[in-house]
Formats: sequence, structure tokens, C-alpha cells
Amino acid sequence: MMDMTKPAPAHLAPSELAYVPFVSVHNMMRLVNAMGAETFMAELAAYIEADFKRWPEFDKSPRVASHVPGGVIELMPTADAELYGFKYVNGHPKNTKTGHQTVTAFGVLSEVSNGYPVLLTEMTLLTALRTAATSALVAKYLAPKGAEVMAMIGNGAQCEFQALGFRALTGITRLRLYDIDPKATEKARRNLEGQGFQITACKSGQEAVEGAQVITTCTADKQYATILTDNMVGAGQHINAIGGDCPGKTELHRDILSRAEIFVEYPEQTRIEGEIQQLAKDHPVTELWQVMRGEAPGRIDDKQLTLFDSVGFAIEDFSALRFLRDKVAGTDYAEPLDMLADPDDPRDLFGMVTRARG
Ligand SMILES: NC(=O)c1ccc[n+]([C@@H]2O[C@H](COP(=O)([O-])OP(=O)(O)OC[C@H]3O[C@@H](n4cnc5c(N)ncnc54)[C@H](O)[C@@H]3O)[C@@H](O)[C@H]2O)c1
Repeated sequence: MMDMTKPAPAHLAPSELAYVPFVSVHNMMRLVNAMGAETFMAELAAYIEADFKRWPEFDKSPRVASHVPGGVIELMPTADAELYGFKYVNGHPKNTKTGHQTVTAFGVLSEVSNGYPVLLTEMTLLTALRTAATSALVAKYLAPKGAEVMAMIGNGAQCEFQALGFRALTGITRLRLYDIDPKATEKARRNLEGQGFQITACKSGQEAVEGAQVITTCTADKQYATILTDNMVGAGQHINAIGGDCPGKTELHRDILSRAEIFVEYPEQTRIEGEIQQLAKDHPVTELWQVMRGEAPGRIDDKQLTLFDSVGFAIEDFSALRFLRDKVAGTDYAEPLDMLADPDDPRDLFGMVTRARG
């Protein structure tokens, strides 16, 4: 068998241009632990907010979704004048039954000027961090003032990140957890008590939402699910709906949507994938970038029911890639990966291969 770890002989050693900084899962975990997840997400949220505030500068399109049996595989590209980013991500709700994760991801950031990648990174962890940072950032604009209690329905992989993001950005300290699988709730309770939250494990979604100012739905099921019915939701609450993010995959009863003020990332994508796929194509929604720029109102009174119909948009991943590039520059959190063929003569790519034969 070929020895994959063997370094190239000196005369074939990769040149500077061959290397792309690579952040492995191991190094992402080191970085998150060194910074603390809450600081990480607070700093990341600042990048996301800065990019939302310059929304018109981005090249935008709904993500490219390949629907496959049991799930979806998506490519999420966007670019500004200097940088191009994309993420590869899947969503397979039944994966956990076979020991796989529902969501895995990796991504690339490149220079627009010459197309060369400047970062390749794991994004399974980074997606959880950016999703939570985005949710918490949005809640800063929409959640009722002084909110301390959050219901969390769906206690899988994203759950703890959401909780920590909300504490870092909005001051949530008490959590009411519910999952159809009690083992998931037990896992989240253990992890989050360890992080200093006050936890109530609940036996139903109805019980979980009692007394909560914010409700996060974060379930995975490829169907029109009804995690929240209209009677479970009251005036003044903020709903952070994470799990409805694919055609035929929603979490909220339609009646909630008819009376909520709905906020979205990119309407062209959310109308295909979000809770609002259940509504008419022209149902009014507010774009979050406009709220962040002060060009559209966020929450206007304490009676309003606000809904963040989150699906996850490419600009959030772009912000995460940009944030990570800045964080790892000049550190050992990134390792050089021999990823780009770099022949001495740029047009002699074939010659480079034949010389390697020895
Ligand atoms: N909006 C975004 O940007 C974004 C980003 C990442 C993930 N997601 C979505 O978030 C969801 C959660 O992702 P994850 O990685 O935590 O998945 P996961 O599979 O790890 O966890 C999902 C949890 O939901 C629970 N669940 C399923 N049906 C339920 C129900 N009816 N009531 C209560 N609990 C129920 C499952 O038991 C499981 O514990 C997925 O749907 C995923 O596609 C959205």
C-alpha cells in the first residue's frame, strides 16, 4: 500500500503557492476551547452583523440543494469584491440512528482576484457556532427586553451552541428543554448544567414553552412537523425557528405564521426552504439586514410575536470563514495543506506530473 504520510523528496517539495491554510476539527476544538465558546460566538456575531450591514455588496443566490433519499446536500456560495466563500453541507435527519451526524460541513474562502483558496476548514462545528451566533444576534433585535428564559425543543447537536450563543448575546440564563428522545434532553441537561445554566427538563413541548420569553425549535425530521401549535405561543414571545430549512421540512403550524411578524435572512431562499413555504409567495416578511441597518423596524412593542424563520444563508458562512481566517492567521490553529498544484512554469502542469515519476 502507498505510504500516504511520506513527505515529498526535496526536489519535489511543494512551493509556497501550493499551500492552503487548513483548520482541522482538532484545531477548531482547540480554538473554541482556548477562546471559550461564548466569546467565540460573540466575536463571530460581530462579523456576521458587519456583513449583514453591507448586504447589497454581496453576490447572492439561493443555495444549490440536491435532494437525495433521506436528506439534502447543499452548496452555499457568496462573494464580495475581494473574497469568495462556499460551504458544502448536508442535512440527513435519520443519520443519528446509524451513528452519523445530521449535519456535516466544510468550506473554502478564496481570493476573488486570482481564485486561489486562502482557507480550507472543517465547518461542522463552525456551522453550529455560526447558526447559534446568527440566532442570538437576531434575538438581540427581536427578543423581548430582559428575556431570561428560553424553551428549547429539539436537544440534538445544535442545542448547546444555541444556548451559549443566547447567553453571550442576550442574557438568557434559564432553559426549558424538550426532545422526543429523553436521552437527547439528558445529554443537553448534563452539558448545559456544566456550563452554569438553570435547567428544567420537560415532558412535552407544551410544558417547555411555559413562561419562556424565547422559544427555539431545533428539531430534525424531513416532514411538515408541528412542533409548535398556535395555542402554545403567546403575545410578546420571540420564536427562533431553526429546524425548518428544506422544502417539505417545517416545524411551525401555519396559524402561528399568520399572526407573527416574520423576519428572514434572504427571502428568495427562505420562501423555498423556511416556515414561510407554507404561505403565499407574497406574504410580507422583513429582511434582517434592513433591521440591522435601521432601515426596517425590529420588535416594535412588547405584545408583538416575532419569528426568526432561520434557514441559514451563505453570507453567515462567509462571515464565519472571514472570522476564522483572521483568527488563525499566524497561529498553529491552521496547518499548511499541499492542496494546489504549482508547476514551475504555470502552463507545464503535465511536466510537473512526469517529473514526479522520478
Ligand atoms: N437554520 C440553520 O441555519 C440551521 C443550521 C444547522 C442545522 N439546522 C437544522 O437544525 C435542526 C437540528 O439540527 P441538529 O444538528 O441539532 O440535529 P440532531 O439530529 O442532532 O438533533 C435533532 C433533535 O430533534 C429531536 N426531534 C425530532 N423530532 C422532534 C419532535 N417532533 N419534537 C421534539 N424533538 C424532536 C431529535 O430527537 C433530535 O434530538 C436540523 O433540522 C438541521 O437541518 C438549521
